[in-house]
Parts: sequence; C-alpha cells; structure tokens
Amino acid sequence: MKQQLAELFHRRFACHLFEAERTIAPADIEYILEAGRLSPSAFGLEPWKFLVVQSHDLKLALQTACFQQQQVGTAGAVIVILAKLAELAPDSTYAQRLLAREYPGEQYDLALANYRNFCAATDLRAWSVTQCHIAAANMMTATTALGLDSCAIGGFLPDQVKQVLHIDPAQYEVALVLPVGYCAEEAHEKLRLPLAELVDYR
Ligand SMILES: Cc1cc2nc3c(=O)[nH]c(=O)nc-3n(C[C@H](O)[C@H](O)[C@H](O)COP(=O)(O)O)c2cc1C
Repeated sequence: MKQQLAELFHRRFACHLFEAERTIAPADIEYILEAGRLSPSAFGLEPWKFLVVQSHDLKLALQTACFQQQQVGTAGAVIVILAKLAELAPDSTYAQRLLAREYPGEQYDLALANYRNFCAATDLRAWSVTQCHIAAANMMTATTALGLDSCAIGGFLPDQVKQVLHIDPAQYEVALVLPVGYCAEEAHEKLRLPLAELVDYR
C-alpha cells in the first residue's frame, strides 16, 4: 500500500493532450468523484460541487474559456470543481445542516457561534476554493490509480466558465478545471526540488 501510493505520486503528471475519441467508463468517473467526495474539509462543510462535462460542444467551449488549452477539449471528461459560496454563510440552511451533523447535540450552538466568528474574519471565497484544491489533489491521484491521466487547469476565465455552464456566480466560484482521460503524449520528467531545499526540521 505504502509503496503503491508512492508510485502513484511519482507516476502522476500533467497531461497536455488526451486521446479525444476515448471516453471514460462511468465506473471510473465515479471512482474519481468518490476520491473528491471523501476529501477532508474545514468544519466538515464539503464546500465543493463537481460538474462532469462530457458533451463535445461543452468541452470545446470550456477549452476556449481556458485559453485554448487543448487538454480541455480532448479530455474524455472535464470535471469542473465549483467552490460553494452562498451555502457557506453561517445563516444558510446548508451550513447549519452540516454543522449539526459534525457537531451534534449540545456541541452545536458553540460550533455555530465559532463558525460565525470565523466567517466574519475570513475570505470565504478563497477559503472555499483552497479546500476544493485538496479534493482536486485526491481526484488526480485516484485518476492515476485507474491508469488514466489528468491535468489541473487553473488557467481559465472564471466568468466565461460560469457562462458556458450556466453557473450562478452568487452560488459558486470556479475552483479548478480538471480534464481527465487517456493521455496521448509521453509522461514528462518529474522536476522537483529536493526535500533538503524544502524542509526545515526544528
Ligand atoms: C492549481 C494548479 C493550476 C494549474 N494550471 C495549469 C494550467 O492551466 N495549464 C497547464 O497546462 N497546467 C496547469 N497545472 C499543472 C502544472 O503546470 C504542473 O502540475 C506542474 O508543472 C508540475 O508538473 P507535473 O504535474 O507534470 O509533475 C496546474 C497545476 C495546479 C496545481
């Protein structure tokens, strides 16, 4: 298990071109989505929503919204990860439902008060998007485990992505566009700094 996971981290790479004619089995898409669903989130609020785009025309429209990056148009599926906005407000039915689940019984009132204070001091949009990136990382690892590839796409015009997918900007921010599929190029060399340059032990 330990060795297999390390291999997945080494094997995953950003694929810049997919085999456009190859679709992804529904069970594989579900496996990837499940990795997102099971990801950790602050206060257990699961601040993400996943849109699975498989329509050829929509993929091409998304490619345009992503500065014509061809991995978007050629992917078997493009998973657009949306960050919840309005639902994270402390007075929303959604936030209160999930807080009551995470902090049941007598813990709830204090948890809600703490959450209210936290929200008053926090950029909720940035906070929500950041957590979606955690889900995205897990989804990319899951994609590699299936023998498929992915490419995180942060290079997009958020307003255009929302327009293409009819997303209400008051409800969601676009966190990440994640094309997945069968890669049509060779894996490239992994370029990483050594741990010695990244880590201090204190
Ligand atoms: C948040 C984020 C946004 C990214 N946006 C893009 C992008 O718009 N286009 C792209 O080709 N790669 C994008 N990447 C992929 C990185 O360029 C890639 O992960 C990095 O160069 C390391 O290469 P590797 O993933 O193949 O190891 C993004 C990665 C992350 C984590």
